Amino acid sequence: MRPETMVVTAALPYANGSIHLGHLVEYIQTDIFVRFNRMRGVRALYFCADDTHGAPIMIRARNEGTTPEAVIERYQKEHLADFADFNIKFDNYHSTNSEENRILSEDIFSKLTNKGGIVKRDVSNAFCEKDGMFLPDRFVLGKCPKCDAPDQYGDACDTCGAHYDTTDLKEPKCSMCGNQPTRKSSSHYFFRVSDYEETLKKFLDSDALQEEVKNFLTTWLKEGLKEWDISRDGPYFGFRIPGEENKFFYVWLDAPVGYLASAKNWADKNGEDFDYLWKSGEPAIHHFIGKDIVYFHTLFWVPMLEGAGFSLPDKIHVHGFLTINGEKMSKSKGTFINARDYLNHLDPEYLRFYYACKLKNSIDDLDLNFEDFFHRVNAELVNKIANLASRTISMFNKNSALGNKLTGITGPEARMLQEMIDEGGAIGSDYNSCDFALAVRRIVRMADIANTYIDSAKPWEYKNDTQRAGEILTAGINALRLITIYLKPVIPEFAAKVEKILLVDPFRWDDHKTLLTNHTIGEFIRLADRIEMKAVEKILEEAKSASIDESATQDDDLIEFEDFTKVDLRTATIKQAEKIKKAKKLLKLTLDLGGEERIVVAGIAEKYSAEEVVGKTVVIVANLKPRKMMGVMSHGMILAVNDGESLKLLTPDGQVASGLKVS
Ligand code: 2FM
Ligand code: ZN
Repeated sequence: MRPETMVVTAALPYANGSIHLGHLVEYIQTDIFVRFNRMRGVRALYFCADDTHGAPIMIRARNEGTTPEAVIERYQKEHLADFADFNIKFDNYHSTNSEENRILSEDIFSKLTNKGGIVKRDVSNAFCEKDGMFLPDRFVLGKCPKCDAPDQYGDACDTCGAHYDTTDLKEPKCSMCGNQPTRKSSSHYFFRVSDYEETLKKFLDSDALQEEVKNFLTTWLKEGLKEWDISRDGPYFGFRIPGEENKFFYVWLDAPVGYLASAKNWADKNGEDFDYLWKSGEPAIHHFIGKDIVYFHTLFWVPMLEGAGFSLPDKIHVHGFLTINGEKMSKSKGTFINARDYLNHLDPEYLRFYYACKLKNSIDDLDLNFEDFFHRVNAELVNKIANLASRTISMFNKNSALGNKLTGITGPEARMLQEMIDEGGAIGSDYNSCDFALAVRRIVRMADIANTYIDSAKPWEYKNDTQRAGEILTAGINALRLITIYLKPVIPEFAAKVEKILLVDPFRWDDHKTLLTNHTIGEFIRLADRIEMKAVEKILEEAKSASIDESATQDDDLIEFEDFTKVDLRTATIKQAEKIKKAKKLLKLTLDLGGEERIVVAGIAEKYSAEEVVGKTVVIVANLKPRKMMGVMSHGMILAVNDGESLKLLTPDGQVASGLKVS
């Protein structure tokens, strides 16, 4: 008999960017859900991977003068370190650029094809002649066809919200080279999603989706199911379509297959049965995603699974976006905070706690308000919960007559604790339904009750009654123990410290049904410190300066060092000079490049006479294509600086030979 098994996934982060606080909402939410289930004894398997394919990664690699594989590798390392430091515990973290994913993607494609669900037809798309490639939506900029807003992407307008085809954009430009794309036709593969209308309707009627999400799907079904374009022409970074030379699976086809690939990789490494996970219908399958990708996970992913004979998800948990101080994360406002910026200054468990305080089973956006964050962590986690531990356990440790041994529990204390035990059922269902905010509210209320109890029972007044002091503190410590069990999915490190103090095995969920009595505990260790506002300010400052640096390095006007080295700059001495007739500004110069003679036309005649330039050593761009100016062929260009008032030739600081390389 296998233990109850559950497959859980979080959306795969793109392999060309860092994990930021927005991503962490989902990975933390999923991790809490998984940890809760593991505590219950369920074999909850948490799978994820990097989402590696697509044009942006290819273009990014090209701009960096490296390969997509190198970019992927760098980010995978970074992602894994960030997740580990936030205590996000995957059972497997894989990559969509993997053999498992290729085989599974091809297998799904072939099964869909065999069922007649894939059709091929010609489509016309934006093509950049200069870059020699079809342009993805996000690489075409132009005026919105509806409202004329400038600089809009090829898929939708940020200003008026209109959705359109890339080819509808007015005055379109390739975002890489600035040229106007042409239209070019090529054949694409399409997945006939409409064949799966019944599957989708059934899925809609199941309880896999939150009500708000059902509404989206209902609308899309009413609008009618369209064929989905699942291929892209090369150059493209992805899996080549079997039987094709230059066509690849669109990244969104193989991205969700990455869930399966990660599970397959885990199963192969651990001698487990992959088919049991995703074909037997036994383990419950839970996907966690953001509201922006519901479309892909319902309309396309569900039919793909059905068509290829895999189990459909039992639940797709959808969350909203993260806002910071009420606004969208913004680089210029310094609120675009990467996981590492946060980790450099604050304890990851504070963010886990705060997100848990805010996460409901809803697609509403979730606000990280730093004032509120500061207040909730300090007031609730530190002042109420950690403080309950320090005031009870420290006093207990200090009372040597007790010998660190908890007493029994009777009377009113037993009633108070029984009520806390009874809350376990409700808190468990809150975790199960992903209403973590409600779970935390119930738990914090328990801490209030326990602190009030200690305030009124006053164990410090029983100096001569060790037994009574011991009973009160035993009750307080038991309240803390229950609170910790309940909070363990959220703050596992805090819980591990409490387990260590109490000298108990790692807490399991059912441990909340019993009390810890007549048991010897260990010494207190500090559980949590207050957040300093300074740390929050530092994070914001650093995020702001990082985004300024980044925007400087991302400036499209910047060139690579290799580009600079293409320019052949040399010293040259002016041997002869003469004015060019009818050209007020131009002098025809004869230059010596160290044995080689060159004719160069220079626009310096308004400042320099022919006589005065002869003998000067200047700097010349020696490998410029020749061009004709006022009938004279110029073989290079000399450098000068114009400060708006006058023009000055650039000359070496001291005597140098002609023809030397300038670098
Ligand atoms: O939107 C995103 O960030 C995608 N990389 C999510 C992919 S989830 C799954 F389908 F792979
Ligand atoms: Zn281009």
